[in-house]
Order: sequence, then structure tokens, then C-alpha cells
Amino acid sequence: MTWKTITASLAMAAAVVPAAQAANASAMDRVEHAVFGTLPDGRTADLYRITNNNGLVMEVTNYGGIIVSLKTPDRDGELGDIVLGFADLDGYLSEAYRKANPYFGALIGRYGNRIAGGRFTLNGETYDLATNNGPNHLHGGDRGFNRVLWQAEPFQESGQAGLVLSYTSADGEEGYPGKLDVTVTYALTDANELAIEYQAETTEPTPVNLTQHSYFNLRGEGHESILDHQLQIHADRFTPVDDTLIPTGEQRPVAGTPFDFREPTAIGARINDDNTQLDYGQGYDHNFVLSGEPGEDGLRPAARLEDRASGRVVEIATSEPGIQFYSGNFLDGSLTGKSGQPYVHRSGLALETQHFPDSPNQDGFPSTLVTPDEPYRSRTVYRFSND
Ligand code: BGC
Repeated sequence: MTWKTITASLAMAAAVVPAAQAANASAMDRVEHAVFGTLPDGRTADLYRITNNNGLVMEVTNYGGIIVSLKTPDRDGELGDIVLGFADLDGYLSEAYRKANPYFGALIGRYGNRIAGGRFTLNGETYDLATNNGPNHLHGGDRGFNRVLWQAEPFQESGQAGLVLSYTSADGEEGYPGKLDVTVTYALTDANELAIEYQAETTEPTPVNLTQHSYFNLRGEGHESILDHQLQIHADRFTPVDDTLIPTGEQRPVAGTPFDFREPTAIGARINDDNTQLDYGQGYDHNFVLSGEPGEDGLRPAARLEDRASGRVVEIATSEPGIQFYSGNFLDGSLTGKSGQPYVHRSGLALETQHFPDSPNQDGFPSTLVTPDEPYRSRTVYRFSND
């Protein structure tokens, strides 16, 4: 792969850059870019490599807004890639990948998680969506935001560098009403944080629930299991589901159940307990109702994930009311990742900040409706450290 440093003039490509300024354009030393591959329609997908001043490195492609790799140090300072993914674009385009559909590292929209029966009613009108997950709609449909080419604009400023991704979802795309202009900013900060800011504006009322679908393995991607990771989720309740993973509407206390992660607990400690909810999810695949109130920064603590062997820790805070914990139950070894290892059952886990599943059909859940007067805004911060 040939990496090129990005100059300020490229970063400002959308704007008109005066000739004198363009001539003086300084290179951004924290963002580089390379060609990632060619899509079936001939368009090129790029790969951006963003580095912070402590050596954390993240690679993102504008295809699906996918975080392709994320390297953080272990307690000895050794960098390791902690997210699942592929070394080239073809990995994400292959038939095997489409079939397994794990959404590795991708931006998810318009609606992250499930909508029952692929149907909702808004202002007296019924909208039919793709049923791409059994009887239900999942992660935005057949061609969700994970499979579109986003426009990318890199940036670098004091204390952080990153990428602004934008995409316009046409009125009626995947069955949803309204034209939706979406902007997602990935910022890698010198405080070892990945801050993700989501914004969307619509021409008509429409449900929106955006999220990021990275699978973590803090021992390093390719390691065979996440069951020994210690997980803490700041939630007193979760939303139990039916056997197609649609919430029943109840918000059930976690106390006394295998869903109680209020204190750090090994993911594998109770995953095989005799429990109907674990049966339905084939493990953990549930939305947790975050308990804390947002602080001054608008974020509430959501989760903390720790791998005691490497010392790596990720803490997640979000403006969202929920987080889906998915323990990688459907990974089956059919996909081989960057390090040449198969991604086997529970070798990665997702923690997806979000509104609750099926909110458009659930009156008791916080609304996911976005209107022309009330644009969508959401923010999630992942902080990487060592213990
Ligand atoms: C869902 C899982 C699904 C996975 C990959 C998660 O967000 O909760 O049920 O298998 O995404 O599609």
C-alpha cells in the first residue's frame, strides 16, 4: 500500500483554496491516505491512517465508514490491533462476508438494530422496509450505511486529528421517508480517545438510530476468545427480547440475572447459564438501559472493557440512552481476518451505543424520530488506557 501525506489543500478540497494559500499548504503529519480498493461500480475506496501523539493508530475507509484497524498499547507499550476486520477492500466485498454479515467496524444506519416485521407507522402512513434478519429489519436494510461510499474530509488540529464522513441518503432509500444528510466525525485525540460525533438532518420525519459496529478483542484481533474479558455496563435494566430478538417492551432489572454487569465481570462467567434470554440471543445480544444522567459534556458512562492479560482497557461514554452488548455469537470461523486467523465463535464483541431496538414500534421507549426542526445529534467517546 502506498501511503501519501495529506496536504492542507486536499483537506480543504471542497472549499475554494486561494492559490497563494494552496502553495503554502502544509502537510498534515497525523493523517495519511492510500487507495484501499475498487468497488464493483468502479469507484475507489480510500483508506485513511490517523495517528495521535502517543502512537495510537487508526485506519478508516470511506467505504461504510469502516474502522479497519485500531492499534493501542498493552501495559508494556506494545501496540496491538484490537478490532476485527480485513486487510483489503475485497475482504469486505466478498460473498462469504455478505453471507455472514457481521458488519465489522462499520457505521450503521439509518436504523441500527432491529425493527419488528420490517414495518413502522408514522403520521398514519405505513412504511415497509427490507426484512433482512429473519422476519425483521436489521441495521438499515439490504444496503445500509455500512455498504455505501462516504465522502471523506480529513482534518488535523491541536490535540486531535481525524476524518469527517458525509453521506446523503435519498428520500425513500431502503424504504425510509425523507432525504437524510448524515455527517459522522471520527476524532482521535491526544488523550487517547476516539470521539465519534453523529449528525443528521432530514427533509421529513424519519426514524434514525446511528451507531458504530466495531468488534473488540483487547488481546489483539485474531485471538480466539473474548470470554475472559472483564465487562462492566452501567445499567440497572435491560430490554428483554422475544425469540427473534425484538424487545418485549419491558425494561427488566438486571439484579440477580446473568445480565448484571454493574460490577466488572468476566463475559464467560454466566454466558452458558440456563436462561431464556441467553437462549434467544445464543449468548449476549441485548440492549442495556444506561442508568447514569449525562454529565456536563452530555455523556453518560456506558461501559468499561478490560483484558487483564494485556492490561488494555476501553471505557465508553455516550449521549445515547442504551448500549447493545453483542458477544459475537454468530461468528463461526468462516471469515479469516487481518492476522490470518479465523474469526471463531465469540472471538470479538460489539458494544453499540444506540437508542433501543424497535423504538418506532415501542411507545414506552425514548423516541428515535428525527424531524426537519429537530436534527439528529449523538456523541460517543471511547477512551483507551492500561491497567
Ligand atoms: C446484532 C446481532 C447481529 C450483529 C451482526 C448486532 O448488532 O445485535 O444480532 O448478529 O449485529 O449483524
